Amino acid sequence: MLKALITGVTGQDGSYLAEFLLEKGYQVFGLRRRTSTPNYENVAGIKEKIHWLSGDLTDLASLIEAVRVADPDEVYNLGAQSYVAASWPQPYATGMMTAMAVTNMLEAVRIVKPTARFYQASSSEMFGKVAEIPQSEKTPFYPRSPYGVAKVYGHWITVNYRESFNMHACSGILFNHESPRRGLEFVTRKVTDGVARIKLGLQKQLSMGNLEALRDWGYAGDYVQAMWLMLQQETPDDYVIATGEMHSVRELLTTAFSYVGLSYEDHVYIDSELVRPAEVELLVGDSSKAREKLGWQPKVGFEELIHRMVDADLRRVEAEMRSQIVMVN
Ligand code: NAP
Ligand code: GDD
Repeated sequence: MLKALITGVTGQDGSYLAEFLLEKGYQVFGLRRRTSTPNYENVAGIKEKIHWLSGDLTDLASLIEAVRVADPDEVYNLGAQSYVAASWPQPYATGMMTAMAVTNMLEAVRIVKPTARFYQASSSEMFGKVAEIPQSEKTPFYPRSPYGVAKVYGHWITVNYRESFNMHACSGILFNHESPRRGLEFVTRKVTDGVARIKLGLQKQLSMGNLEALRDWGYAGDYVQAMWLMLQQETPDDYVIATGEMHSVRELLTTAFSYVGLSYEDHVYIDSELVRPAEVELLVGDSSKAREKLGWQPKVGFEELIHRMVDADLRRVEAEMRSQIVMVN
């Protein structure tokens, strides 16, 4: 039985990847750091099937021990401080969790199990102020946030370990991908949760930042398959994973509000605090290399994705309302 170790398993991508690998018959080990309020919501359906290991990406000894216990064939390094906006107020912590942590994880693998295949969660944020449209593996990086800078480090240290130690280390340069499990602070989920609350009468207004930003949004369930495909190749390499379609935050608002018969203009106001110190205005990926070499392609389109997310938030908010009524009675 193949064994996989996933960091960031309680996050959006980690939970979909764990489900995907369990389905394929893998034994899945999940690294979990200690938090004062544990949150297993994303992995609720598979919690008992995961072998839990206690560790923190900033603590090398804990990672060495995790790799020793799991003895993995594949390691997926998805853990990070992943919210771009939080990287300005917390630049050092972001550097430790998103950049230096990659070295820690690579070192743990190099020392304990150098033959394990390694996946690094790189990001389209590395393209930042884009040098060309669309962005491919050959596009130069120009990060625009402490998060983007940290991801560039994580990307290059992965390439460096591949070249220095002959490790099977891949870097997936993934463009934005979303789902009903997306954190509530990210723009798609913030909007779909806001739409559900407004539709159900719990909220009237929604504060937003830059509505003109353009993103290439795909479905997380499709993207974790690309991670796995990268590690099945004989030769390790780096791949852009994207839909190739670009939509604005404004279009996102129109799509989500109109789906429930509302108009975003009646509810949205701009809060200048939400506009970032340096913005990534536009991201759209060219994933032809992944499509040709991995045979990967996205299945869920933008509209379907946003509709699914609105439906899921409507169901969740309604359930919360029902449980509150029960508690009051
Ligand atoms: P996410 O939902 O924010 O999940 C992040 C995970 O990292 C959580 O499980 C979190 O655990 C864990 N983590 C954070 N700091 C840690 C630490 N010090 N030690 C151990 N675990 C730690 O992120 P995601 O959207 O699934 O993204 C997964 C990865 O892909 C991230 O590296 C992200 O930067 C990258 N990425 C994401 C996208 C995207 O659009 N989603 C695109 C490109 C790249 P807690 O539950 O304890 O917080
Ligand atoms: N979060 C948020 N909240 N973003 C807003 C808002 C708002 O109220 N209003 C406008 N935006 C704009 C942001 O300025 C940004 O241009 C865009 O919406 C997307 O923001 P996020 O959803 O927070 O994602 P991100 O693109 O910054 O980063 C995500 O994608 C990266 C890949 O490109 C994260 O998942 C990163 O971890 C990932 O690497």
